[in-house]
Amino acid sequence: MGEGMTRAPEYGETLRIKNLRTHFFTRYGVAPAVDDVTITIPRKGIVGVVGESGCGKSVTALSVMRLVSRPGKIVSGKVLLDGEDLTAKSPREMRQIRGNKISMIFQEPMTSLNPVYTVGSQVAEAMVIHQGAGKKEARDRTVEMFRSVGIPEAEKRFGSYPHQLSGGLRQRVMIAMAMVCRPRLMIADEPTTALDVTIEAQILHQMKELERNMDTSIMLITHNMGVVAEICDYVYVMYAGRIMEQADIFSLFDHTMHPYTTGLLGSIPRSGRGGGRLYNIRGMVPSLLSLPKGCRFRPRCERAMPECAEHEPELYEAGRGHWVRCHLYRDSGGGETR
Ligand SMILES: Nc1ncnc2c1ncn2[C@@H]1O[C@H](COP(=O)(O)OP(=O)(O)OP(=O)(O)O)[C@@H](O)[C@H]1O
Ligand SMILES: [Mg+2]
Repeated sequence: MGEGMTRAPEYGETLRIKNLRTHFFTRYGVAPAVDDVTITIPRKGIVGVVGESGCGKSVTALSVMRLVSRPGKIVSGKVLLDGEDLTAKSPREMRQIRGNKISMIFQEPMTSLNPVYTVGSQVAEAMVIHQGAGKKEARDRTVEMFRSVGIPEAEKRFGSYPHQLSGGLRQRVMIAMAMVCRPRLMIADEPTTALDVTIEAQILHQMKELERNMDTSIMLITHNMGVVAEICDYVYVMYAGRIMEQADIFSLFDHTMHPYTTGLLGSIPRSGRGGGRLYNIRGMVPSLLSLPKGCRFRPRCERAMPECAEHEPELYEAGRGHWVRCHLYRDSGGGETR
């Protein structure tokens, strides 16, 4: 972790989102929900993406999956999975890749389970299709996976239909489904927000195991800095469509640079409940249709200077592998921009 994670030359990278722009073309104007975002997910380690509601986390994930729907559109940039650009794939190729090489745990889980099949058969079937497992093996491993994501009476639940389960249990089935295929990349969008603390801990542990033992790279989207502290190795902080700071976990917590990140960290929600929506940074997230000139965070920033209203800062490397989009750090570390 730490340095290795930051540069990760020995491990290479699974995913590189490169200068991605995904905009929404609404009748009121263009909303740059993801605006020149570059994120690297190395082979080893769990990468967190954090930020307040509406900052572009889910749209980033949906762009990788090529599931952004109208009026949204990927305007430019690349999404390289093992070096192959997903933005250039046909819809058919993307269907192959989804659920096979990449699996995603969606923030709104109900949509992805088929109501007419039992949850167990759906997960087992995925294993048969994607891994050529035998029926018996698939069944046993599904039950085992159900247990490990905290589904009580796993044997019995295998035969339940989605509507017979609570929202929390359905979410755990989705998590089992995402893990069972042993994808190259797993994108988890607020996977544990609706679950209680014990189950959350169990699932985070399970994700860590997956990353360690199965060679799966993980991108974890969350509001919750407590969750980040617990399992992430490297973190990207987003605000209004931009990356504001990125660093390995130790550097981010011990040498927090961006005033926005400081605000996020000052409001770690109690034991992670409430989805972490209780950030106490003054003011509100600006509308993407009328972003302030200069730094997008400037109207809410405690440390804003006159130039912040004039020029938007670039990402400066202010420490080894620690990048920050803030004029306060322009002259640190040689002021090299990316
Ligand atoms: N269908 C849509 N039409 C117009 N704008 C949209 C649409 N979907 C998303 N957006 C814009 O994209 C921005 C980013 O949304 P996104 O869902 O990525 O936020 P998020 O960071 O995942 O927030 P949350 O933490 O609440 O899940 C929103 O603020 C909104 O302006
Ligand atoms: Mg979201």
